[in-house]
Formats: sequence, C-alpha cells, structure tokens
Amino acid sequence: MRESIKNLRIGVLAGGRSAEREISIKTGNAVAGSLKESGYNVVTFDLDENFAENLKNIDVCFIALHGTYGEDGRVQGALDIFGIPYTGSGVLASALAMDKIKSKALFNFYGLKTPPGIAVKIGEKGEFLRKKLKHIEPPYFIKPNASGSSIGCGIVNREEELEEALNNAFKYDDEVLIEKYIKGREIQFAAAFGKPLGCVEVKPKDIFYSYDAKYTKGRTEYLINPELTKEEYDECEAAAVKANEIIGCRGVSRTDIILSGEGAAYILELNTLPGLTELSLVPMIAGNKGISFNRLVEDIIEDAVIKKEKQ
Ligand SMILES: Nc1ncnc2c1ncn2[C@@H]1O[C@H](COP(=O)(O)OP(=O)(O)O)[C@@H](O)[C@H]1O
Ligand SMILES: [Mg+2]
Repeated sequence: MRESIKNLRIGVLAGGRSAEREISIKTGNAVAGSLKESGYNVVTFDLDENFAENLKNIDVCFIALHGTYGEDGRVQGALDIFGIPYTGSGVLASALAMDKIKSKALFNFYGLKTPPGIAVKIGEKGEFLRKKLKHIEPPYFIKPNASGSSIGCGIVNREEELEEALNNAFKYDDEVLIEKYIKGREIQFAAAFGKPLGCVEVKPKDIFYSYDAKYTKGRTEYLINPELTKEEYDECEAAAVKANEIIGCRGVSRTDIILSGEGAAYILELNTLPGLTELSLVPMIAGNKGISFNRLVEDIIEDAVIKKEKQ
C-alpha cells in the first residue's frame, strides 16, 4: 500500500483564510517536509485563486488547514465534488466539530459532560442577556463559537468584565459561548483511526491555555505521562472515544478536556484537524507510543487513500 501511494501526487493544502493561517503554514511545512523525507511525491498549495486549478495536478490531498474554510467541512465538500481523497474527517463531522455550540448540544444529548454554558448572538445584551445567564455564576469562560488556538477567548471573574470580553470574542464570530469556568487539569486526548491513542496534560504558565501559552516555547509544561488514577484516565478516554463517535470523526483528532477536582471529564471541544508540527500535541502523544512523526504522517495519508477506496 505504502509503495503504491508513493506513485501518487500528494497535495499538502496549507495556509487558508482563517485566523489560524500562521499555524496552518507551520503544520503544512512540517507535513510536506516529512512526506518528502519518506520519499513521497509532494506539492504544497494554498486556498487561493489557483485552488481549483491546483486540484487538477494532485491525486490525494493532505489537509493541513485549521479553522474556517479548512476545518469546518467547506474544503472537504469541494474535494468530495472533485473526487479527490483527503485526510481526516468528512463534511458533516468537520462542520459539527468546528461549531462549538452545536457540538456541545450533541455531546450533552448523548450524556457527555461539558461546562454549563449559553450561546449568545451578536447584539444580545443588557437585561435579555442577564436573564439567559441567570443560572450560571461567574467566573465565566468566553470564546468565539467557531475559532481556534484560543483566539478571542477570555476569563470573566465579575459581571462588569463581561461586556469587554464579549466584544473581544465577537471580533471573531457572530456567535459566542459563555461557559462556566471549570477549575481543573487540562487533558488533551488524541484518537487515531477509530482508536484512542493517549493523552498529554498541559500546564500553562498563563491562567489558561492561551494563544501565547500554545505557541511560545517555555510558556507551557507538557506532561506526557500525566499522573492520573486509572479511573481518571478511563473517564477521559471514554469521553474522547464517545465524542469522536458522536461527531463521526475520521483520521486523527484531539479532544480537549478539563478534568475537574471531582474527577469529572468536561469536554471543551473536539479538533478534527489538530496541529501537526513536530512540537504539536498529537505528534507528542504518538511519539510517546513509539510512533514517529514521519510514521504518523504516512499513516494519515494511507488512511485517506483507504477511505476513498472503500467508497
Ligand atoms: N469552560 C472553561 N473553563 C476553563 N477553561 C476553559 C474553558 N473553556 C476553554 N478553556 C480554556 O481555553 C482554552 C481554549 O478553549 P477551547 O474550547 O479548547 O477552544 P480553542 O482551542 O478552539 O480556542 C482551553 O484549552 C482551556 O485552557
Ligand atoms: Mg482547544
């Protein structure tokens, strides 16, 4: 299988139009470099005016995009129409996972725990907003519905700070989530090809796992074998596995979880196109299981080709 894929032209799609463009370029460079090193035939292309033209010159697409247009089902739909196999989840799973409000509703429907929260549309404020929020006490965590990399996120300790935090989040989306701030340990759980892969605990020096904490070296401590009791580990694993099933993910994904002091796993979100630089969390988790970065990238591309053959 691997050898026959080496004859295919692989297009690594990176960059894109979301606020996470910079990160996507890093993922794209890491993936393209790795595939070349393993002897694959690789071109890199962007989501620009030459997109449709570029599709004519590839046989399979490695999607290295994050955020809007890349992680949300739109690119997946275009590739389906052109009949090009691609890595990762399909249209519906991508769209659902990208929409934090909709995926939260689904998680809750199927009995998974998520932080109590409400969805707010741009323009909703004053008494109307206070009524919607009356069952949840501060501190709150505010985040744009469909963004990533903690862009537009913030903590609100007192009611008076709410408006400013909301205005900041509304810069990135017309819908925002106000959640109860959950105190606990942050566990990020990877799944690969239908099975749980393992987890890492992130301990940011910042008050939460912010953009800076994510992308500035030394701002976060990563515990690759976190001290979890068997019950805690199982709780996180079961939540991640079920979340993947509910959304219908394929390929590689990462479920962001907060494990509360009482040992409950609260799902924050599910990422269908997690970062894949050599320093990203999923490669770190894979590495801990003896799966090298090159091998992980090869497994992902192989999964895309197998998926297409099964259709
Ligand atoms: N309800 C919450 N309580 C406490 N911290 C939160 C909560 N929601 C998000 N966070 C923090 O913000 C970070 C980003 O939130 P997340 O939902 O994963 O969005 P994204 O990573 O897509 O920006 C998390 O990794 C966590 O540190
Ligand atoms: Mg996250």
